[in-house]
Amino acid sequence: MKILLTGGTGYIGSHTAVKLLQRKDDVVIIDNLSNSSIKAVEKIELLGGKSLDFYKVDIRSIDQMEEVFKKHAFDACIHFAGLKAVGESVEKPLDYYENNVYGTINLLRLCAKYNVKHFVFSSSATVYGDPAYVPVDELAPLSSTNPYGETKLIIEMLLKDFFNSNKNVNVALLRYFNPVGAHPSGEIGENPLGKPNNLMPIIMKVASGQMPKLQVFGNDYPTPDGTGVRDYIHVEDLAQGHLLALDKLEKDGGLRIYNLGTGKGYSVLEIITAFEKASGIKIPYDIVGRRPGDIAETYADVKKAEKELGFKAIYGIDEMCAHSFNFVQKYPKGF
Ligand code: NAD
Ligand code: UFG
Repeated sequence: MKILLTGGTGYIGSHTAVKLLQRKDDVVIIDNLSNSSIKAVEKIELLGGKSLDFYKVDIRSIDQMEEVFKKHAFDACIHFAGLKAVGESVEKPLDYYENNVYGTINLLRLCAKYNVKHFVFSSSATVYGDPAYVPVDELAPLSSTNPYGETKLIIEMLLKDFFNSNKNVNVALLRYFNPVGAHPSGEIGENPLGKPNNLMPIIMKVASGQMPKLQVFGNDYPTPDGTGVRDYIHVEDLAQGHLLALDKLEKDGGLRIYNLGTGKGYSVLEIITAFEKASGIKIPYDIVGRRPGDIAETYADVKKAEKELGFKAIYGIDEMCAHSFNFVQKYPKGF
């Protein structure tokens, strides 16, 4: 298959690209490099054992993108590109709607025009808002609490309407839980260009001496130790989920929605302990107030992905921490 990856030099895209190359798919990446490095291309090729085509293209420009569509006949598109920082989305909502929603509309116009058969979208557990129940399944009510989450909800709706109007394109909405970890080689990993916002990248900054301490946002949640509980999933397992979703679309078609998580929740304090064990490094922290907009607890019901895709997360929390640590040791300031 010839597959277009938007945002393919980013964290999740790069790990997925390696797996696609390893199974001999043809990969074309477009990315504007707003949150990733061109160096990822060489690393992906090395790990994947095959070359790929890269274009520095912004999904907000339909003309730039169309030049790529004219050169390549894509069978499928995996759409990772977008902005993803919740706090920043509150400050700059227009940027988020423009990159995420408008960019996706451009991409869909071209996928329809050039007869792309399969479209896989990076959605998020954020579409469950504060989930009505846990483990949360795909039928739970949807809501959002910030512009980033709104863009994911809008794109999900857009893709449902798009599918209903054009049954020639099969669609998978993959709702990721909390991706962590890195390629076991330590050559690619989460490589954010700005200040990190998420727990694991911040722990890695502390572990590598670039931040003095972690702030734990609240210990008064109704969870076993009072800190927030999330479903952390190794990025390698998440990447594999995309290959399985493509296979499913190829085999059975349709519009399909899947949670991609492990089904198990860990608290912030449990993550700190697991990271300390994996790295041998003490992570100093202060308990501070809750972060506005945070929820107490979410973790996935993964039965649907297990049953329909054969998806099963292989890596546990110790490997997630060990591989994150391995990456930060190799590339303390990113690559
Ligand atoms: P990332 O920032 O590492 O990767 C996104 C890539 O998209 C980057 O390389 C960036 O340069 C590129 N990009 C951004 N705007 C672009 C534009 N206008 N044109 C072209 N390229 C553009 O993020 P990631 O963690 O790999 O996330 C990939 C997708 O998964 C995103 O859509 C994100 O919202 C979604 N997601 C991520 C998480 C998470 O916690 N990492 C959780 C749920 C969903
Ligand atoms: N946390 C801290 N200190 C920090 C950072 C985070 O205590 O410095 C805590 C949070 O309060 C939360 C947990 O660590 O309890 C995880 O926080 P993250 O920011 O890593 O992840 P979130 O679950 O808040 O959000 C992430 C992404 C969203 C995505 C969501 C679901 O940022 O974009 O997962 O996929 F929508």
